[in-house]
Amino acid sequence: MSGPKTTEPVLDVRNLTATFGDGELTAVNDVSFTVGSGEVLGLVGESGSGKSVTLRSIIRLVPASGDVSGEVRWQGQNILAMRDAELRGVRGGQISMIFQEPMSALNPVLPVFTQIEENLKAHTDLDGNGRRARARELMDMVGIPDAARRLKEFPHQFSGGMRQRVMIAIALASNPRLLLADEPTTALDVTIQDQILKLILDLRDELSMSVVLVTHDLGVVAATCDRMAVMYAGRIVETGTVSEVFAQPNHAYTRGLLGSVPHAGTERSRLLSIDGTPPPLDRIPPGCAFNPRCEFATDACRATVPPLQDLSPGRSVACFNRDSVVAAGSPV
Ligand SMILES: Nc1ncnc2c1ncn2[C@@H]1O[C@H](COP(=O)(O)OP(=O)(O)O)[C@@H](O)[C@H]1O
Ligand code: SF4
Ligand SMILES: [Mg+2]
Repeated sequence: MSGPKTTEPVLDVRNLTATFGDGELTAVNDVSFTVGSGEVLGLVGESGSGKSVTLRSIIRLVPASGDVSGEVRWQGQNILAMRDAELRGVRGGQISMIFQEPMSALNPVLPVFTQIEENLKAHTDLDGNGRRARARELMDMVGIPDAARRLKEFPHQFSGGMRQRVMIAIALASNPRLLLADEPTTALDVTIQDQILKLILDLRDELSMSVVLVTHDLGVVAATCDRMAVMYAGRIVETGTVSEVFAQPNHAYTRGLLGSVPHAGTERSRLLSIDGTPPPLDRIPPGCAFNPRCEFATDACRATVPPLQDLSPGRSVACFNRDSVVAAGSPV
């Protein structure tokens, strides 16, 4: 949680909504958040809550069956309204993404060097020699030894952790100002996870990059992020600094998530302590989508969607019974 932090937003997402199936299925529902320069924002929630679709919508990488609306303000412009040529300059250039599945995101039939070089060709003026030198530098930066040899190898010749490093090297080739990292360590064992997260934080410091880190692991958020936004059924239900939210969750879902985080000194575990599962998109309950699983639910929760209300700058919550949630105390 160290490193540069300012309040000036570089990314300003406003009322982002993503639907599938001719607007019938809403995967991302009126989501707004900002990311400051050099800041790491954690986007947290169980599987299916809309985290990946949110990240993809920011850079318009949703399938053709999807429709994205709202505003994504980046360097004074709305990415959602940009022409394709402009968008290509931003995507993979100023804003890079690391995907959840490194193997499917890498091209299996191209050597790693070619894949890094494609990004360098698209987003820098470097000549052939410059690109080779930069590719070696990137491999060093992400901690892959013996760069000259390994650049000629194919993705399947790398271990899971090393492949994720390759993905990061490709993402960083253009010196992005913003890195969108979608569960970059979920497939990796805990030691490698820690190394990759440390690498992302080091690079954030070195390159003054901002990061949106998607994860379902509150332990990762605590170790890595400055601020966090909790998502449930496509909506943001709580935001704040990591220390504020951990000290006093105001939303019953956040409280449930925190209750599933093991205490200091024990192993990380998955989010198992909230009964039930998030609803599929065609069965989102009326009112607060969390109400069937919520021990604090009242009639109002079953009738009306609770609005996201600001408690202080950067701190917001969407829960009708936050007084009861607060009175119940932090489970951590
Ligand atoms: N291309 C798609 N078509 C229809 N539904 C989709 C598509 N992509 C994602 N979804 C649905 O959107 C919801 C959110 O998905 P996702 O953002 O991947 O969740 P998360 O990353 O939080 O696990 C899920 O219910 C998922 O099934
Ligand atoms: S609004 Fe109601 S159902 Fe939703 S989290 Fe708060 S108390 Fe629970
Ligand atoms: Mg996902």
